[in-house]
Amino acid sequence: FGKSVHYEESVESTQKIAHRLAGDGASEGTLVVAEEQTFGKGRLSRSWHSPKHTGVWMSLILRPNIPFHQAPQLTLLTAVAVVQGIEEATDLMPGIKWPNDILINQKKVTGILTELQAEADRIHSVIIGIGINVNQKNDDFPEDLRQKASSLFIESGQPVSRARLIQHILAKMEQLYQLYLDKGFTPIKILWESYAVSLGKEIKASTLTETLYGKALGITDEGVLLLEDNAGQIHTIYSADIEIP
Ligand code: BTN
Repeated sequence: FGKSVHYEESVESTQKIAHRLAGDGASEGTLVVAEEQTFGKGRLSRSWHSPKHTGVWMSLILRPNIPFHQAPQLTLLTAVAVVQGIEEATDLMPGIKWPNDILINQKKVTGILTELQAEADRIHSVIIGIGINVNQKNDDFPEDLRQKASSLFIESGQPVSRARLIQHILAKMEQLYQLYLDKGFTPIKILWESYAVSLGKEIKASTLTETLYGKALGITDEGVLLLEDNAGQIHTIYSADIEIP
């Protein structure tokens, strides 16, 4: 991965560029990296704060031959790769909050956004967007993010080389992706669960239509979250915001 790299100083969103390149036939492993995004995209139509020179804002193009409903597995795979990459590049030990937030001391340092180009049940390409807060200081975050977001610098007290971090993450990504194509999701799921911070805990899950309270039991083979409410009923959650009160 990363043999073909599109490096940009300032873009609206690396996702947008990666979508265009994928549509033009860019090969698997093509990477778009930018120093700054002016319209960084987050999950659930949110924006993603992506100031200049301080973070890793990148999008990777994959072309797996898998059915549509398995795409969430790639998000979980990416979360594992990012955790392992951060572990190699720093002495931090991040955890994962379902589906794909990477936390250190309960604060979010990384977000992952997976988007698909697909037709019916066939995937043309998967665009995996990774945003990592690397060298921001506390004051660099807008007021409303300070309580819940952090950076590798803030958590470790040391500046981190973004180039080295990207190299570690891409190497992990490539390894795990190969494992996934060879052996399927099971080994990835086991790794993911070993980093998960919400499993076995009481959580609050806010979906578009309802708010559920209960215990996070685990994930399914498709990467969907299982939640047991207080009446013992089990819910499958495809998309939600999770809080661990
Ligand atoms: C989230 O909401 O947690 C996901 C955030 C994903 C941000 C990354 S930064 C690189 C890529 N380009 C974007 O516009 N978004 C993703």
